[in-house]
Amino acid sequence: FSTGSNGSQRLGGKVAVITGAASGIGKATAAEFIRNGAKVIIADVQDDLGHAVAAELGPEASYTRCDVADEAQVAAAVDLAVERHGHLDVLFGNAGIGGVLPQDDMASLDLGNFDRLMTVNARAVLAGIKHAARVMAPRRRGSIICTSSTFGVLPAPMFAMYSVSKATTIAIVHATAEPLACDGLRVNAISPGATRTQMLQQLRLLSETAPGLREELKRLAGKEAAAAGWVLEPEDIARAALYLASDEASHVTGHNLVVDGGYTV
Ligand code: NAI
Repeated sequence: FSTGSNGSQRLGGKVAVITGAASGIGKATAAEFIRNGAKVIIADVQDDLGHAVAAELGPEASYTRCDVADEAQVAAAVDLAVERHGHLDVLFGNAGIGGVLPQDDMASLDLGNFDRLMTVNARAVLAGIKHAARVMAPRRRGSIICTSSTFGVLPAPMFAMYSVSKATTIAIVHATAEPLACDGLRVNAISPGATRTQMLQQLRLLSETAPGLREELKRLAGKEAAAAGWVLEPEDIARAALYLASDEASHVTGHNLVVDGGYTV
């Protein structure tokens, strides 16, 4: 057992499923887990990208299609880990979608978008917990990690519905930690600040034609700049996930680990 950052085995012998791992934070975490001795199943809906990422990360990585909005597909990804590797130690429920109000205006709220956000960002997290716990509980060991957001802690006006979905993720972690602890399992959230990924890039593109959003991003950037800097790298979040996945965090559960350079302070 070593805690060094190169060639260490902080996850030696562990098997992980990471949703949303074809890109961004999930991909960086898959790479970090593999560097630390884990076998990783990349679960996503972007098949070409997912296969390419698995090939790039080497023989300890494999890809499976999994739309987290469909509980049966979440269950299948968990079962695949057990079939392929004998057990599951870590589920990182990280897949997520963004959502902005076209204007800073409640009247423009589309409840269909809200349902989709809640399904992918919150309900899917609960489905992941349910099915991971099903296979982890008999061994009385396992770490479940869910990606929330600083907006789940401090809602931002133009991201109101996204903020609700991410606050729900934190609530799910709090609500399930105690029953899972009885089974010897841990569940924690990570709340990243603005992180340089495809999702942030799409937001910036959208802001080019939406002056309200441009102003909002400027306001948020100003607030972040006043903290420790504007944009995080996916690897910053991956290291937090590595800690929560590892046995170093064996007494950490029901926690929301905020990684935001001080944005929410
Ligand atoms: P990303 O867009 O690079 O990655 C998201 C991944 O999730 C993509 O590969 C996408 O295909 C996958 N995905 C989307 N819907 C899916 C579904 N129904 N089933 C399976 N996979 C699906 O974005 P990023 O930033 O890496 O996002 C990861 C998580 O981090 C998300 O939950 C996001 O809400 C959260 N987050 C991101 C922040 C940022 O500034 N980038 C800040 C705070 C939270």
